[in-house]
Amino acid sequence: MKKQPHFIPALHFHWLTRWYDPMMRCLFPESGTKAALIAQAHIQPGQIVLDAGCGTGTLTMLIKQTEPGAIVYGLDVDPQVLDIARRKDGQQAGEAIILQQGTATCLPYPDGSFDRVFTSLMLHHLTRQDKQQMLREAFRVLKPGGELHIADFGKPHDFVMWLISLMMRWFEEIHDHILGRLPAFIMDAGFHPVEETAQHRTLVGTIALYRASKPMKND
Ligand SMILES: C[S@@+](CC[C@H](N)C(=O)[O-])C[C@H]1O[C@@H](n2cnc3c(N)ncnc32)[C@H](O)[C@@H]1O
Repeated sequence: MKKQPHFIPALHFHWLTRWYDPMMRCLFPESGTKAALIAQAHIQPGQIVLDAGCGTGTLTMLIKQTEPGAIVYGLDVDPQVLDIARRKDGQQAGEAIILQQGTATCLPYPDGSFDRVFTSLMLHHLTRQDKQQMLREAFRVLKPGGELHIADFGKPHDFVMWLISLMMRWFEEIHDHILGRLPAFIMDAGFHPVEETAQHRTLVGTIALYRASKPMKND
């Protein structure tokens, strides 16, 4: 039998995965953050888009609803969370998204496959080394001029968020995010420019949005 790679599931424990969507709806300004991330990407009809670490597929499906002319892939390492995404996608009207199992640190796609890569709330599940590897993989699979769009824990942007961060920094692999190291990791992967575009207040701390471009070949 093929051995599953080690990973941190959507709500930290496998037995909580089926509660991911209800938890997110109650505790997190999910729809606003995801809509803002999609809006900043200006996706055009015909573009090919990847949502890496897609979880239950909420963002993936929202991308497809926002731009039905885009070809949208969702990838996650966890077969259990992908089952939930497939059930949700089956209930939607219209053209489906393409859901695949795989790890974001070794993306199963050729170089230059995508116009946009998204990743939402996944990087804080990865060790520092794996974050850096995932960002290199995102760079590899993007076309020149393509863009990476990230929503994840960021440096606290006010006093209340800083107080929350004192506790959250010890959770999963959040430490580097709270110290504001993510933009440097994104730049080290080859992206330029890298911008923090927004900071959202949540019950678990600052969620920052980032936009990063893969330079055109002659830039
Ligand atoms: C907190 S959930 C976020 C899900 C979704 N992107 C969202 O915004 O709601 C994190 C997801 O990352 C996935 N994940 C963790 N490590 C991964 C890896 N190495 N490759 C791909 N997905 C991974 C988990 O299985 C989980 O579904």
